[in-house]
Amino acid sequence: MNLVLMGLPGAGKGTQAERIVEEYHIPHISTGDMFRAAIKGGTDLGLKAKSFMDKGELVPDEVTIGIVRERLGKNDCDNGFLLDGFPRTVAQAEALETILEELSKSIDYVINIEVDQDILMERLTGRRICKNCGATYHLIFNPPANEGVCDKCGGELYQREDDNEKTVANRLEVNVKQSKPLLDFYNQKGYLRNVDGQQDISLVFNDIKELLGGLG
Ligand code: AP5
Ligand code: ZN
Repeated sequence: MNLVLMGLPGAGKGTQAERIVEEYHIPHISTGDMFRAAIKGGTDLGLKAKSFMDKGELVPDEVTIGIVRERLGKNDCDNGFLLDGFPRTVAQAEALETILEELSKSIDYVINIEVDQDILMERLTGRRICKNCGATYHLIFNPPANEGVCDKCGGELYQREDDNEKTVANRLEVNVKQSKPLLDFYNQKGYLRNVDGQQDISLVFNDIKELLGGLG
């Protein structure tokens, strides 16, 4: 199954992606995670991405499209993939069509997690992530059993650098502007499926599973 997960920052893409890839055994391709790994590793890609991410701006399309092209060509995508946070512009979506055509693949669904913009600030500023396994928590909505410690692996929890109020505000503004034309693009192609992202995390996942059940 070839899937794209869409939604504004904080809609729950990463949270649902964790569950989807565990259930369906497909690779999780998050451009945000790839950029963060590159920054940590001090690579050229990391250097290019960091200044944009720190401000909450989009990394330029040519950089982002290049890393996705390379990643989708790897063998582990032969039986499916979950793209999380890509595409984010119509230019990226058009490039993805070309990449998939070259690889003789196509998208099954674009799952759009819908959440009202006004609750996203609280979701993002309260987010905590495991340093070790990447699991996502929330101080109020999805707290770990022991404060600051991952339930799954005992790893230490940290706050993402771009989850401060100022950067979140800009991320929301930038992404709201890009999202409407992108949703129209996928709606016209017939790929778009909306999921209510304001339910409990497990209920959002149930809706996604119900949708994906049709793919067999
Ligand atoms: P990226 O890492 O993709 O961040 P984002 O899009 O801003 O999305 P987030 O990861 O912040 O949110 P999410 O939807 O995954 O929410 P989560 O599940 O964690 O991108 C970061 C940066 O990289 C961008 O700003 C840009 O600079 C660059 N970049 C990445 N891709 C790019 C691209 N394609 N083009 C150009 N630049 C790109 O949930 C959030 C919180 O809410 C968590 O605490 C969670 O526990 C909680 N939560 C989740 N679901 C629920 C629920 N149902 N109820 C209550 N709480 C919930
Ligand atoms: Zn962990």
